[in-house]
Amino acid sequence: MDDTHSAPIDLATIVAGIYEEMKPRLGEGKVADYIPQLARVDPAQFGLAVVTIDGTVHSAGDAAVPFSIQSISKAFTLTLALGKHGESIWRRVGREPSGSAFNSIVQLEAEQGKPRNPFINAGAIAITDLILAGHTPKELIGEILRFLRYLANDDEIVIDRDVAQSEAATGFRNVALANFMRSFGKLDHPAEHVLGVYFHQCAIAMNCIQLARAGLFLANGGTSPLTGHSVVSRQRAKRINALMLTCGHYDGSGDFAYHVGLPGKSGVGGGILAVAPGKASIAVWSPGLNQNGNSLLGSLALEKLASRTGWSVFAG
Ligand code: DON
Repeated sequence: MDDTHSAPIDLATIVAGIYEEMKPRLGEGKVADYIPQLARVDPAQFGLAVVTIDGTVHSAGDAAVPFSIQSISKAFTLTLALGKHGESIWRRVGREPSGSAFNSIVQLEAEQGKPRNPFINAGAIAITDLILAGHTPKELIGEILRFLRYLANDDEIVIDRDVAQSEAATGFRNVALANFMRSFGKLDHPAEHVLGVYFHQCAIAMNCIQLARAGLFLANGGTSPLTGHSVVSRQRAKRINALMLTCGHYDGSGDFAYHVGLPGKSGVGGGILAVAPGKASIAVWSPGLNQNGNSLLGSLALEKLASRTGWSVFAG
């Protein structure tokens, strides 16, 4: 029964059950096609991985199939930026939900080139600009990839160069956002350098198990249970989670909080990383998107998972 949790949680049964319920709906939603390489992905796929803070993995469906993490990378570059520059990053990006699409440009003019938050495209580009300080673009791409390999404890994670090139060839909106910020003096490096990194961080390919492992430090007070290493302080993990909850799904963030109730970060590749603080890190992937550009079946699966486990941060 949903939302009653007196009995111990049987995660294996819950995860397998959600996959069975999603199966008849495979292919629903609309695959992102503004990045040509993403349009080629078979929409009839669904993967789910739940990694509890003791490191136990429960997975189902296409949980071992790599996909383009896209905007989910923004949660990790934010973590790097906070590590490198601390709270001073908030001089360059805000912490408020935008209420606008992820690639919107309208607020930027009204707010003098300071993006609302680090997860909309403008904000993520500003964050990448901040961590580019002292690096060449190529070095920083390597550093971001190594960070994800370290977090997931998995050196097999790679960047899909075709996806990066595909976006570089068609990412006119991001070129506009970066140049617009530069015109306000809000970008320290040439737009093409920053975007070169941004397109590659978005093109990192991971599967659900790798992604859930990489997010585990956020579920475990900043420390990775896989390595025992502290990635960020407890307070910083809490704050990154807060931003994921309020801004991680763009203008769909309120709806995601209402239905799922977990910090989450989505990507147009159809992935979502969700964090159940003190409990587990969850990655779900299904390429078909809803009208807000977030995975349709992925959001639905997370709603079922949060309901059946009682993991919503709003649950009493
Ligand atoms: O900048 C873009 O358009 C993509 N590389 C990432 C967008 C994205 O994943 C938005 N998330 N839902």
